[in-house]
Amino acid sequence: MHVSPGLAAVLGLATIASAKPTNYSATSVQINWIGDTPGYFPGASFGVPWSEGALYPNSTTFSLSGSGGNSSLQSWITGYWRDGSIKWSGHAIPATESVPDSFTINASPKSVSKRSVPQKRDLSVEESGDGITVDTGKVTVTFPKAGSVLVSSIETAGGNVVGTNGKLVLSSQSALANDVESRTNTSVDYFNFESNIEEVSVSQDTSVRALVTTRGQFRVLAGGEHNDWLPFVVRFYLYSNSNSIRIVHSIVFNGDGKKDFISGLGIRFQVPLEGEELYNRHVRISGSDGGFLTEAVKGITGLRRDPGTAVKVAQYEGKSTPDISTWDTRVSSRMHWIPAWNDFSLRQLTSDGFQIKKRTKAGQSWLDVSTGPRSDGLAYLGGSTKGGLAVGLRNFWKQFPTGLDISNAATDNGEITLWLYSPEAGPLDLRPYHDGLGQDTYAKQLDALEITYEDYEPGFDTPTGIAKTHEIFLHAFDATPSSDHLGLLSKHLDEPPALVAKSDHIQQTRALGSYWAAPHTSKSQAAAIEKNLEFIIEYYKGQIEGRRWYGFLHYGDFMHTYDVDRHVWRYDIGGYAWDNSELSPDLFFWLYFLRTGRADVYRFAEALTRHTGEVDVYHTGDWKGLGTRHGVLHFADSAKQARIAQPQYRKYFYFLTGGDERVGELLEETLDADKTYGILDAHRKVRTDGWKPAPGEPVSISLGTDWAALAAGWLIEWERRGSRWQEAKEKLTNTAAGIAKLKNGFVTGEGLYDIEKKSISSPPTDPDNAGVVDISHLSAVFGEPEVLSEAIEYWGDDAPEGLPQAWLDYCYYYGAGGVEQKARYGSSFSGVSLKQGHARLSAYYYQQTGNSTLAARTWNEFFNTDGLGADKAWGVTTKLNGSAVLLPGVEEVSWISTNDIAQYGLSAIQGLALASEGLAS
Ligand SMILES: *[C@@H]1O[C@H](CO)[C@@H](O)[C@H](O)[C@H]1NC(C)=O
Ligand SMILES: *[C@@H]1O[C@H](CO)[C@@H](O)[C@H](O)[C@H]1NC(C)=O
Ligand SMILES: *[C@@H]1O[C@H](CO)[C@@H](O)[C@H](O)[C@H]1NC(C)=O
Ligand SMILES: *[C@@H]1O[C@H](CO)[C@@H](O)[C@H](O)[C@H]1NC(C)=O
Ligand SMILES: *[C@@H]1O[C@H](CO)[C@@H](O)[C@H](O)[C@H]1NC(C)=O
Ligand SMILES: *[C@@H]1O[C@H](CO)[C@@H](O)[C@H](O)[C@H]1NC(C)=O
Repeated sequence: MHVSPGLAAVLGLATIASAKPTNYSATSVQINWIGDTPGYFPGASFGVPWSEGALYPNSTTFSLSGSGGNSSLQSWITGYWRDGSIKWSGHAIPATESVPDSFTINASPKSVSKRSVPQKRDLSVEESGDGITVDTGKVTVTFPKAGSVLVSSIETAGGNVVGTNGKLVLSSQSALANDVESRTNTSVDYFNFESNIEEVSVSQDTSVRALVTTRGQFRVLAGGEHNDWLPFVVRFYLYSNSNSIRIVHSIVFNGDGKKDFISGLGIRFQVPLEGEELYNRHVRISGSDGGFLTEAVKGITGLRRDPGTAVKVAQYEGKSTPDISTWDTRVSSRMHWIPAWNDFSLRQLTSDGFQIKKRTKAGQSWLDVSTGPRSDGLAYLGGSTKGGLAVGLRNFWKQFPTGLDISNAATDNGEITLWLYSPEAGPLDLRPYHDGLGQDTYAKQLDALEITYEDYEPGFDTPTGIAKTHEIFLHAFDATPSSDHLGLLSKHLDEPPALVAKSDHIQQTRALGSYWAAPHTSKSQAAAIEKNLEFIIEYYKGQIEGRRWYGFLHYGDFMHTYDVDRHVWRYDIGGYAWDNSELSPDLFFWLYFLRTGRADVYRFAEALTRHTGEVDVYHTGDWKGLGTRHGVLHFADSAKQARIAQPQYRKYFYFLTGGDERVGELLEETLDADKTYGILDAHRKVRTDGWKPAPGEPVSISLGTDWAALAAGWLIEWERRGSRWQEAKEKLTNTAAGIAKLKNGFVTGEGLYDIEKKSISSPPTDPDNAGVVDISHLSAVFGEPEVLSEAIEYWGDDAPEGLPQAWLDYCYYYGAGGVEQKARYGSSFSGVSLKQGHARLSAYYYQQTGNSTLAARTWNEFFNTDGLGADKAWGVTTKLNGSAVLLPGVEEVSWISTNDIAQYGLSAIQGLALASEGLAS
C-alpha cells in the first residue's frame, strides 16, 4: 500500500495531546435543585464528580453545609479515576422541613491513622433471620425475608400501624378472544398470582439512607397450575427523618408472548382501620393538577338533617369530628341508615381520561363518581385518629393503563391497590403484530426490508426478556393530612426533588467527558445553532404530548421517522416506528442537560433512559445485554444488537443520581453482551462464507457499533470498580491494543474478537493483517466518539500504544475525501454518509492536534454536507388543523427525523465545545 510520505509525516507529527493536565481541583461544590426549590423534601440521593487526583478514598471526608439544611450526610463512592482517586461520590441527605435553596458538599482530608469517630446514625436498622426493620425516626417499616409479604408493617412515630401485608399482585390469562363473537368459543385460563420472596438484603451503610432490596417471582394463587414467573426486584429507599418511602419496582417478562397475557399488575397494602368510626375514615383520590376527590366512608354532609357545622367541616377537612354525643340527635340517632362506601376505584385507561366509581359493597352496583382527564396518581386511605397511608405512582397517566383502588374501607382492614397495569384494561398483548407475511427465507426478509424497512425473522419478534420499571411513593401519616398537603405530594410525584452539581463544575472535572461545554453564543453562527437546539428540544417535548407517546410500554420513547403525507409519525411502518435509541438521541439529550442544567430536559432524558434501558433491551436469555432495532413493536425487529443497549446511554443518569441501583444492574447485564456473539451472528442474513457462531469461539465484530458498546460497558465497570472490573479493564485495554495493531486501525471495520483471550485481531477476511479498508457510516454514531474520548482520557499515559492515533486517523480520514483516503489506505472509502454527524470527529481531531484546517472542516461538514442544513425552516412549525389530523392543533416539522436531530445535536454540541474557532462569525 502506498502512503504519501509528506502526508504521513504530517500525520505522524500531529502531536497527540494526552489528557490535558487540569488544574481544576475544587473540593467544595454547590449542589442545586433540578428545577425550583421543592415544597417538601423527603430525602434524596445524588452524585458529585471530582477532578482526577483531587481526592482519595482513604483520606477524604465529606460534609454538607447549606442554608438551614440538615447537616447529616451519607457518602459513598460510585466512580474512580485510573489512579484510584475519587471520580464520583454518591450522597444521601435526610428529609428536612425547611428546604434550603441549595447545599454545598465539602470534601476535606481526614487523617488516615485517626480512628474515625462512629458517625451519628439517624436511621436504625435491625436485621434478624426473619426480616429487616428500618426506623427513619418518622416511620418504622418491616420487610420479611420470606413469603408473599414484602412489607409487613408501616408504623408511624406516633405508634399507628398504617400499612400491613404489602404484596405484589399479578393476574394473567392464557388466551385472548379475537372479538366479542369468539368469546363464547375461546378457551381461556385465568390465573392470579402474588409475590413470592426469594432474597432480601439491606445496604451496608444506613446512616442516612437504607436501601432494602427484595427479589422474587410471582407464584400462582388460584386458577390452576402455572410455574413461578415474572422475576421482580423491588427496591425500597428509606431516608432519615422521612415519613415517605420511595420504591423502584422492576419486572422482567419471562413468559411466552403468545400464551401469557398480563391482565393486572399491582402493589397492595392493607390499612388497619379497626376502632376508627366510619365517619372519621377518609378517602382521597387524585384528580388532575393537584385536585382531589375528598370523601368520608360514611358521609355526614348534604343530609336531610344537619349534624352541625363543626361536625361537617371537621369531616371534610379530614379531622376528628366532635364527639357524636354532641351532634344534632336527628342525625346521630339515624347513622345506621346512611350507607357506608366500602370501595372506590379509579382507572386511567388512556392518557386522556380517568373514571372514578364507588360502591357500598361487592354485589351492589357501582356508582359513577366522575370522569376527568389525567389523574396525578395518588390515593390515601386512613382515619383522623388511626392515621393512614398514601400511595402514588410516578408518571401515572403517562404509563396507562393504570389504576388506584381503595377497598374494604368500611371494614377493619381497608386496602389500597396501586395498579401498574389496570385489570380493567384489555390484557397486555405482546404478540407479534403480523404473521410473518411469508418471510421464511433470508432472501425474502431482505427484500421486505427494502419496502417496510423492517428486518424480520421468524421467532425474533419475542418479548421474552424485556423489562419494565416503575417508581412508587408511600407516605405514612399519623392523622389524615390536609388536602393541600396531599396536593403538594401529588405535585412532586412526577418530579421528585432531585439535586445536581453545577454544570460548570461537572464540566471542569471532565467526569462526563470533555466533549461538551456551556452554550456558546459569542459568535452569531453559534448563537443560531443554540437556537436550533432549543427548537429541537421544544419540538420533541411538544410531539410527546401532541402525538401521545404514552403508555405502559412506550412512555419515554419517541418515534424514528415522519410520514409527511399522512401527517403522522410512521408508527405502523416496519423499521420507522419506535426509535429504540437509534443514532443516540439519548446522548444528545443528556449532553444538552449537562450544558444547560434545564430541569425539563433532565426529566425528559430520565424518562428516555428508563424506557430504553428496560423495554428495548433483553435482560435474560440468550440475548441478554442486546437491544432491538427500531420498529413497530419495541421488541419485534430481528436485529438484536449491542449498539441499542449501549451502556453509554445510561452513564450520565447513573452517575448523576449517585448510582441509581436499577440502572447499575442494567449496566452489569451488558457485561455479558459479548457472550451473545457466540450464539447470534449479526451478519447471518448477508453472510456468504458459511461461518457459524459457536459459544466462546472467536467471532468477527464491528469495530464501531459492537466494540463501542462493549467498550462503554467495560469502561464503566472499571470506573465503578464493580465486581468484574479487572476483567473489564483487561478486555477494554487488550481489545483496544488489538485495534491499534491492525494495519488500518478502525478503518479495518471488523475485527476477530476472542472472548477467551480477551483480544481483537485482524478479521477472518485478512488473517495476515495486510490491511482491509471497510468503514461504515454507523460505526461512529452509536456512542463510539464519546466512549473513545472518555476512555483515552481515562487511560492517560497508559493508553494502548497507537490507539489514540488510530482513532485520530479514523476521525481525520472519514471526512478527508477519496484522494487522501486512497493515498493513505490504498483505496477510497465507500459508504461515507451522515457527514453532519461526523463533523464532531473533525472537531475532536482539531482539538487534539490544533490543526486549524480541521476546525474549518468541522463546520463545512456541519453546514454544507447532509443532515439538517442552515437552509431548513428552523424555528417554524406548522399547526395542523381541521380534518387533516386526528388531534387538530398538533405541530408538524416535516423535515425532522430522530436520526437527524440526534446527530445534528451531538455534532453541534461537540463542535461548539471543541472547534468553535472554526466558525466564521
Ligand atoms: C487554571 O489555570 C489557568 C491558566 O493558568 C487559570 O486561568 C485558572 O484560573 C486556573 N484555575 C484554577 C481553578 O486554578
Ligand atoms: C490511599 O489510597 C491510595 C490510592 O488508592 C494508595 O496509593 C495509598 O496507599 C492509600 N493509603 C493508605 C494509607 O491506605
Ligand atoms: C435533621 O435530621 C434529624 C434526624 O433525622 C431530625 O431530628 C431533625 O429534625 C432534622 N433537622 C431539620 C432541620 O430538618
Ligand atoms: C368461534 O366463533 C366465531 C364466531 O362465531 C367463529 O367465527 C369461529 O369460527 C369459531 N371458532 C371455532 C374454533 O369454532
Ligand atoms: C493540517 O491538516 C491539513 C489537511 O490535512 C494539512 O494539509 C496540513 O499540513 C496540516 N497542518 C499541520 C500544521 O499539520
Ligand atoms: C388550516 O391550515 C391551513 C394551512 O396552514 C390554512 O391555510 C387554513 O386557513 C387553516 N384552517 C383553519 C380552519 O385554521
